[in-house]
Amino acid sequence: MKPDIPIVSYMNQEEVFKKLVSHCKEYGFVFQSSEIYDGLSAVYDYGQYGVELKNNIKKYWWDSMVLLHENVVGLDSAIFMHPTIWKASGHVDAFNDPLIDNKDSKKRYRADVLIEEELAKMEGKIDKEVEKAKKRFGETFDETMFRQTNPRVMEIQVKIEALHTRFAKALNDGDLDELRQIIVDSEIVCPVSGTRNWTEVRQFNLMFSTEMGSTADGALKIYLRPETAQGIFVNYLNVQKTGRMKLPFGIAQIGKAFRNEIVARQFIFRMREFEQMEMQFFVKPGEELTWFEYWKAIRIKWHRGLGFNPEHYRFHDHDKLAHYANAATDIEYKFPFGFKEVEGIHSRTDFDLKRHQEFSGRKIQYFDSETNESYTPYVVETSIGVDRMFLQVVAAAFCEEEAPTAEGGTDIRTVLKLPPALAPVKLAVFPLVKKDGLPEIARQIIDDLKFDFYCQYDEKDSIGKRYRRHDAIGTPFCVTVDHQTVEDNTVTIRNRDTMEQERVTINSLREMVGAKVNMKLLLK
Ligand code: GAP
Repeated sequence: MKPDIPIVSYMNQEEVFKKLVSHCKEYGFVFQSSEIYDGLSAVYDYGQYGVELKNNIKKYWWDSMVLLHENVVGLDSAIFMHPTIWKASGHVDAFNDPLIDNKDSKKRYRADVLIEEELAKMEGKIDKEVEKAKKRFGETFDETMFRQTNPRVMEIQVKIEALHTRFAKALNDGDLDELRQIIVDSEIVCPVSGTRNWTEVRQFNLMFSTEMGSTADGALKIYLRPETAQGIFVNYLNVQKTGRMKLPFGIAQIGKAFRNEIVARQFIFRMREFEQMEMQFFVKPGEELTWFEYWKAIRIKWHRGLGFNPEHYRFHDHDKLAHYANAATDIEYKFPFGFKEVEGIHSRTDFDLKRHQEFSGRKIQYFDSETNESYTPYVVETSIGVDRMFLQVVAAAFCEEEAPTAEGGTDIRTVLKLPPALAPVKLAVFPLVKKDGLPEIARQIIDDLKFDFYCQYDEKDSIGKRYRRHDAIGTPFCVTVDHQTVEDNTVTIRNRDTMEQERVTINSLREMVGAKVNMKLLLK
């Protein structure tokens, strides 16, 4: 697979992102929730191809975590949990975002995001200087030297570092006044009104709540879980005892999470209802930082295993460590709107288990038969959003490129260069014409192969149009049944990325396609 092919160069990144969003809708990947009622903000539904891609991403994660690690087991805990869990975890008191309003536009923003965007803008200025110089100096250009010595770049770099230090300190101190002052001093304007007329910064809790039981009985206020991790912590004892698990071991879970995000933008990047794939790895105290490094390496390998541009991934260590964490990093991907977090890896110490021990009154520990002592395990967590990963995959795979037409000219084709194992449809089968027994043969091929991988039949429009439709949803292989097939049981098979066709026997399709679309290829 050719990874991260540049999208036709005349488009800026904003246009690219708009194209991605409309492509997702046009081809049945993602729809706005409740669209016929004008939609529900930051809530989305996955269409016929979206759900396949999403399920494949989940399988890639699940198999890599559970199947390939004999000391990691799965769990599926309920969304509703006892409300005290969220008191113990700290979410009731501290799961807040710092908000600021612009008095003119009445638009609400996350103060930290405004400052992060300002930092990204400054980095963008440096990138522009680099690009200009690259063009000017051509092959002799030394980018590292340029970044270290160019006065304009150095000036911006100093400003970035100063802003960054001030921002990190304000976050760490929870100093809301200082966050506002940074916005004022950086002359950040509201993108809608263009003014700097800001309110104070306030904290806003992100948890959704509802009531369980009838109000007459004194209904219980419960929360929709804002992360799946707490379902794992409160089942630590159950799994450890029933699975006779020995440290170190992990519990993995995929499930829905809910957050009342105030600034819900960028399509499925930040949603109010989303899905997480989380794994809590329980270790002996003192060994957590070694395991933290281990999981960092495993997780970046998982991302890179998809074969997209390796330069589009980076680690970003947290500026503000949560009070219970002793190390934390994000895996970021270069989206069309810049490098953004896709996954978090956190060393959470023994905070969560200790808090649940304290709030539940139950002893939550591990008896180490080697040392004959009991202790509370430490935890290293890997946490990734399914939807955000979906967006990352589509952004990396989306490509527009010149392609030959049947008439001998060229035009632009849109193709999703998905890793074949993630593609919604693995094989499309077309009869050349809707007669002469060709549709029957095409359907017979599908009937034979549908137990192995997802196949689709398509007989509408010209073969060229059918290829393009399947390019757009990322189908790696298309087979055409023609009149020669009737004679000798051979078909043409066309490769999505190279667009090359070869003639093969129908009998060889299972092995040929099966080998290329198998998840094993990614996992190995
Ligand atoms: N248990 C740790 C935890 O939940 P987090 O950094 O808040 O950590 C982990 O979330 C991941 O969940 C993020 O890296 C992101 O991929 C995803 N995520 C978080 N909030 C999201 C949202 N509002 N919409 C979509 N994905 C989200």
